[in-house]
Amino acid sequence: MAYRKIRRKRWRTTDARMDGKLCVITGATSGVGLAAARRLAKGGADLVLVARDRDKAEAVKAELEAAHAVRADIVIADFVRLSDVRGAAEDIRSRYPAVDVLINCAGLFSTKRRVTEDGHEMTFQVNHLASFLMTMLLLETVIRSPQGRIIQVNSFGHRFGGLDLGDLDWQRRAYLWPRAYGASKLAQLMAMHTFAALLKETDATVNAVHPGLVGSNIVQNSGFLLRWLMHTFKKRLLKDPAVSGEALYFLAAAPELKHMTGRYFSLTAEAKPAAVTKNEALCVQVWERSLGLTGLRQSP
Ligand SMILES: NC(=O)c1ccc[n+]([C@@H]2O[C@H](COP(=O)([O-])OP(=O)(O)OC[C@H]3O[C@@H](n4cnc5c(N)ncnc54)[C@H](OP(=O)(O)O)[C@@H]3O)[C@@H](O)[C@H]2O)c1
Repeated sequence: MAYRKIRRKRWRTTDARMDGKLCVITGATSGVGLAAARRLAKGGADLVLVARDRDKAEAVKAELEAAHAVRADIVIADFVRLSDVRGAAEDIRSRYPAVDVLINCAGLFSTKRRVTEDGHEMTFQVNHLASFLMTMLLLETVIRSPQGRIIQVNSFGHRFGGLDLGDLDWQRRAYLWPRAYGASKLAQLMAMHTFAALLKETDATVNAVHPGLVGSNIVQNSGFLLRWLMHTFKKRLLKDPAVSGEALYFLAAAPELKHMTGRYFSLTAEAKPAAVTKNEALCVQVWERSLGLTGLRQSP
């Protein structure tokens, strides 16, 4: 119901330019992230594309630099390895004194339970732990911008449940991919509240967004049936990712969002996240576990 109400709202856009601003974006080789990178480049922003596939990233870089007077640098990292995330953040910190916008967009779901080299369920690691670690390691660099913005590409799917702090890696429960996806997105959303609190005394903001239901490659780790359904109904049921790109541009550039922080948007409309995100005790637990699992704090 709430989602349908939001869908009926008019999407906002902005004419604000981003010339001279530096945007770090993960997941810009496909779907939502690619659409956002295109829109940011059109708006004049220089980009750092954090990608796992160099060939794909080189193709995006070539496209953006040919079409617009911007620079697109590439940093390679596969988020199934947290050491890659650390390396990417270190690289970015050493090359750029400030980051104006950080967009954590890389994400996936997998119909099969897979475990990363770090020993975590893959969806949870790529969608939450990697974006958490990247944000933590780039926080000071974003704060150094006159008005840094962090955008967590989240999902309506954070409502699918599945977040069990006693079994984050789905070892004890039967793996259900919508719930594993939901768990990763809910954890990201709950951690966002603590990021907002950390940034309170600064000019930087952090917000989360559901980027719409759009046709992308997100089913690439799925079984045949889901891939077939996506292929068959993509055009009829799903929007063009350009819609998400426009929304992400709005969140990154709109002057009227300068002081908005800790909010959840559905495209450009502020929306109510699941009630559980207001559970402060659980938010603290998610935060503490995320610190431990990313090696930012030793577990007791
Ligand atoms: N599509 C939707 O309707 C929808 C709805 C709600 C939320 N979202 C969110 O939007 C974000 C983007 O998804 P999308 O729909 O655009 O899917 P997509 O087309 O599959 O794009 C996902 C991006 O993430 C990258 N990625 C995946 N696994 C990675 C890894 N291990 N390390 C580094 N990068 C990795 C992909 O790189 P490659 O190009 O190399 O695969 C790609 O650039 C996700 O966070 C998703 O949860 C999407």
